[in-house]
Amino acid sequence: MKGVILAGGKGTRLSPLTKATNKILLPVYDRPMVYYPIETIVRAGVHSIIIVSAKEHAGNFINLLGSGKEFGAKIEYTVQDEPKGVAQALSVARDFVDGDDVLLNLGDNIVLDDISKDVRSFTGGAMVFLKKVKNPSAFGVPVFNGKKIIAIEEKPKNPKSSYAVTGLYLYDNTVFDKIKRLKPSARGEIEITDVNNLYINEGTLRYSFLKKEWSDAGTFDSLFETSEMMRRIINAKRRR
Ligand code: DAU
Repeated sequence: MKGVILAGGKGTRLSPLTKATNKILLPVYDRPMVYYPIETIVRAGVHSIIIVSAKEHAGNFINLLGSGKEFGAKIEYTVQDEPKGVAQALSVARDFVDGDDVLLNLGDNIVLDDISKDVRSFTGGAMVFLKKVKNPSAFGVPVFNGKKIIAIEEKPKNPKSSYAVTGLYLYDNTVFDKIKRLKPSARGEIEITDVNNLYINEGTLRYSFLKKEWSDAGTFDSLFETSEMMRRIINAKRRR
């Protein structure tokens, strides 16, 4: 299993904070946001990680993270030339993944759960991690038939469940051929939700629920709330 962290994209939702730096280098309480996906991947038992960013920011990630030794990981770096979508950014990591399975963490997704069991028992197909949210329209949303996910809708106006598909995914290596088959969505991006729907059609997508708090820190409010959340959690740990 290899870890992939995505830090590309335009970062327009957080402008001007992201005019001169990358969203994932912004602070979340006491550390740069990118520390969280690295910690989530290492906690899951995966120690070989690549960070995909735009060329302007790759040097900053190297300055901050170096070889990854500090995190008990080996970190490599690569570039997405144009922000053509989450799935297109993942495809840039194909050579690095080199036939293995993939644990993908979108750089702005803060996941505190330990998913090492899911990683160890992963036998192919795909796995998504769900969280109940107040605003499902902002995310990929699963459509259930009983306990089965029959589709995922990207940012639906009328969500058919109250769950978000979080930005943490397990894929087998067929993900790269699946991405090649996809066409850009209405917003001009190769969507990760379309990848997940291909696995659903194949009958190989499974899901699990995140138990701990989760956050997508990609908007002003959620970035602020994520800092508050981590301040609360870190200080409670210190008091123990
Ligand atoms: O947070 C979970 C959500 O993430 C999912 O529920 C959605 O299904 C999924 O599409 C995604 O939605 P977002 O609108 O939040 O994605 P965003 O455009 O913010 O991109 C997520 C991360 O991926 C972002 O931190 C940077 C990276 N990215 C994005 C794009 C568009 C890239 O590396 N390259 C890209 O071209």
